[in-house]
Amino acid sequence: MAAVVVVGTQWGDEGKGKYIDILSADADYVVRYSGGNNAGHTIVHDGIKYALHLVPSGILRKGKTCIIANGVVIDPAVLVNEIANLSKHGNELARLLISDRAHVIMPWHIELDSLQEESRGSEGLGTTRRGIGPAYADKAERSGIRMVDLIDPDAFREKVYANIKTKNAIIEKVYGGTPLDAEKIIEEYLGYAEKLKPYVTDVNAIIHRALEEGKTVLFEGAQATFLDLDFGTYPYVTSSNPIAGGVCTGAGVGPKMITDVLGVLKAYTSRVGSGPFVTEIKNEIGDSIRELGHEYGTTTGRPRRCGWLDAVMVKYAARLNGLTGLCLNHLDTVGKLDSIKICMAYKLDGKVIDYYPSNLKELARCEPVYEEFESWKDSDISRINRYEMLPFAAKKYLRRIEELIGVPIKYVGVGPGRDQVITM
Ligand code: GDP
Ligand code: IMO
Ligand code: MG
Repeated sequence: MAAVVVVGTQWGDEGKGKYIDILSADADYVVRYSGGNNAGHTIVHDGIKYALHLVPSGILRKGKTCIIANGVVIDPAVLVNEIANLSKHGNELARLLISDRAHVIMPWHIELDSLQEESRGSEGLGTTRRGIGPAYADKAERSGIRMVDLIDPDAFREKVYANIKTKNAIIEKVYGGTPLDAEKIIEEYLGYAEKLKPYVTDVNAIIHRALEEGKTVLFEGAQATFLDLDFGTYPYVTSSNPIAGGVCTGAGVGPKMITDVLGVLKAYTSRVGSGPFVTEIKNEIGDSIRELGHEYGTTTGRPRRCGWLDAVMVKYAARLNGLTGLCLNHLDTVGKLDSIKICMAYKLDGKVIDYYPSNLKELARCEPVYEEFESWKDSDISRINRYEMLPFAAKKYLRRIEELIGVPIKYVGVGPGRDQVITM
């Protein structure tokens, strides 16, 4: 039995989808346990680029069961569309399963996400405006609608009417927005329900049976450690728990069942949306990383903020997730720069600190302490598939990262493709 979690160690977009696609070759099940269609997971193979938002990244391999578990919030319109697109490209959707306990993103969640962002003005969080925060808020408030309700027309109608009055009052009276029409929503959503019903079931029983039978189950993280509701740069975070512990509640798996936790990181750092970013580079080097790494959001198309690799963050992520291995991407990208930096520590008010501050004002005053590395500009490493073949400078850089984080590097990405990975 293996239950392997793949998590982001930075602010998302580390390349989690790519590793799920690669590792799913030897897995039986792939499970999404948190987040929603705020995620955008890119997979590139045979020259085709796929961007998945809700369906687990194992769907491109034949014979794998892909599960959207209870911890995910589902926009049914997006899911129906994603299923249709994947089917059109010849993928096998019969093995997709959706938790009956997963919460549904309703039109008022999407509307409120935008209205709340607008009302925050320049203090906006930079959310994806997909309704994620409001949907999780309703889940916690106990007024949410679950998939089990969506596929039961009477229950769904009842729940829409139980919500609509309050939601419209907030939309109209607090934010000056346009109220929503309950009947229109019911008609539209029951159409999605019809299409999604065949996939909806008690997925927890299926996950447990798989583990009991000794199958390999991959848990696909969305978002990342520093977007975690509890441990990220609050309030500039998402509204769920993407860290490995999120698997326990988001899929109903006991902590002792988890056998491995792989942390994905980029050889630099990116962030999309607002919030503190100690190693951000606001000059032409940051622009070069953005262009070389194609750092534009998979979900919203926004240019991602770029900066140096921050070992303080990744070390903290190693602890929070109990990482057993690292998957490092974009070694090809940093190799093209004139030289490379890694942030070893933070200086706060002149003193070196060894923790990640919870106080955002303190975090904003932190200055990065860098170590500089030679790059390997003259070598194209994008087709190298063995560690031994890498330039000396690249090997030295990788060994230093392992030493700093204290976790072995298991895989190194030298390009976006399925085959552009070095197994260590
Ligand atoms: P995810 O959300 O963690 O799955 O990551 P995204 O798909 O949003 O962003 C990762 C981006 O980096 C995608 O465009 C990938 O195709 C790309 N990528 C992943 N690994 C590598 C790598 O090793 N080198 C390069 N050049 N691109 C990579
Ligand atoms: P993947 O899985 C990068 C960011 C948003 C915003 C904050 C809150 O592709 O790594 P939300 O819509 O979740 O309420 O927005 O979180 N964010 C992500 N950034 N990658 C993601 O997912 C993200 N999902 C949310 O940009 O700053
Ligand atoms: Mg992404």
